[in-house]
Amino acid sequence: MTTVTLRNASPASVKADAVVIGVRSVGDDLLTAPEGDGVAESLETGAAGTLKRLGVSGKPGDVTKLAGGTSTKAPVILLAGLGDDAEVDLESLRRAAGAAIRNRGDAKTVAIALPATTDEQIRAVVEGALLGGYTFDRYLDKKPDKVEEILVLTNRARAKTAGHAAAAAQVVAEAVNFSRDLVNTPPNDLYPQSFADALKDRSRQLKAKVTVTVLDERTLASKGYGGIMGVGQGSERQPRLARLSYKPPRAKAHIALVGKGITFDSGGLSIKTGSGMMTMKCDMAGAAAVSSAVFAIAELGLPVRVTGYACLAENMPSGAATRPGDVLKMFGGKTVEVLNTDAEGRLVLADGISTANGDKPDVIIDVATLTGACMIALGRNTYGVFSNDEDLQQELTRVADRAGERAWALPIPEEMHEKVRSTKIADLSQHNPEPWGGALFAAAFLREFVADGIPWAHLDIAGPAFNEGSPAGYTPKGGTGTAVRTLIQLAVERAR
Ligand code: BES
Ligand code: MN
Ligand code: ZN
Repeated sequence: MTTVTLRNASPASVKADAVVIGVRSVGDDLLTAPEGDGVAESLETGAAGTLKRLGVSGKPGDVTKLAGGTSTKAPVILLAGLGDDAEVDLESLRRAAGAAIRNRGDAKTVAIALPATTDEQIRAVVEGALLGGYTFDRYLDKKPDKVEEILVLTNRARAKTAGHAAAAAQVVAEAVNFSRDLVNTPPNDLYPQSFADALKDRSRQLKAKVTVTVLDERTLASKGYGGIMGVGQGSERQPRLARLSYKPPRAKAHIALVGKGITFDSGGLSIKTGSGMMTMKCDMAGAAAVSSAVFAIAELGLPVRVTGYACLAENMPSGAATRPGDVLKMFGGKTVEVLNTDAEGRLVLADGISTANGDKPDVIIDVATLTGACMIALGRNTYGVFSNDEDLQQELTRVADRAGERAWALPIPEEMHEKVRSTKIADLSQHNPEPWGGALFAAAFLREFVADGIPWAHLDIAGPAFNEGSPAGYTPKGGTGTAVRTLIQLAVERAR
């Protein structure tokens, strides 16, 4: 575990294995930040030209290693880019801190001298550093060294609220990293039952009270969970529905969260290609995000009631699997004609949403790696936000931005409403065979299960949930923990 300490010390004199110093590019100049301390000044006046020759750009996420030892007590200096804005924004701080920690080499104690004169900045630096320091080494014989201690250099080291900000950042970062762990765990070890067990274990580890209850396949079948059962019936690993409840006294709001938890998506009988299923252990990222957010909101002690549902199933082909053409009777009674077993996420989510209706929450938000179509629309770094309520849709994109996540509002056009009702065989059609607007059709399908009068939003995180490329900023390869910070921030703002 990495410890985080706020320290009122100068980057020149602090004792650490490495010290992180921020660099902004301003016009043709490279300026170190924070300004006004000895090292920063000596770097600025003595070495600005040299820094350029060394390839320092000052771009957020850019890190250059220099030898310390003379201008600093620390033997290594990590110059971290902060961009070219006059005022450094919080996301640049997160990225700078994250990239610096990720590129720390063998440093075990790292001091960070980035602008940290407000509680918000301190929070961003701690969050970025802990997210950037993430590694998943459970399956490695030789574990890479972890960063042991992070010293955040700030003149607010002794301010009470600064300490709270750092502590909150640790809770948030741990939640994101827990979500990443779940996504990265291979699907032979993470299946519906073991996922549910991991949630129970986590709830026992935390000080806050989160009640985790798990419905097994027999209960699911007897209660009419046709969506979750239909998706899971082709697998040897039986489906589960885990419910997480945090219910503080005097709650100001009640948020229900529903996550897609397909522990592996082979496509079922509508089977994917080999390369198409290579990363499909990530198909439970929505359930991971939702569960992690419930734990974090509880740990932060926010006066908001949160009920989370992890809809857990493995989508496999077998003699027992659901076929294209089958009709499923969903929880709550609606019938659905299945036309493509690879469009399984909407089936498990529909059961989750219908269950959440019963809690009569103020809002339902589902999170899912739902469609390749959403990735085509928005790329690898932005998730789509659909809703039956424009205010909620805007609230979520705003909240995501503040939390440092990229979200974009997408529509549910009228024609999609017609298409989900176009079958004569059942109440609803699960799949639109034409290739256009697949993410929009899926959202229209989900909306059918939301009870009248409940504002609902759907976050399609298929793009950003799993990073197949190189690490960048505070984002590692593999599971990213997307949506966790948005959901926590939503609760923070609804608690006011
Ligand atoms: N889990 C996939 C979506 C996905 C694709 C997530 C790539 C992350 C990366 C989902 O279950 C799926 O297979 N969707 C199909 C829907 C189609 C059959 C209508 C898709 O997007 O191709
Ligand atoms: Mn699928
Ligand atoms: Zn899927």
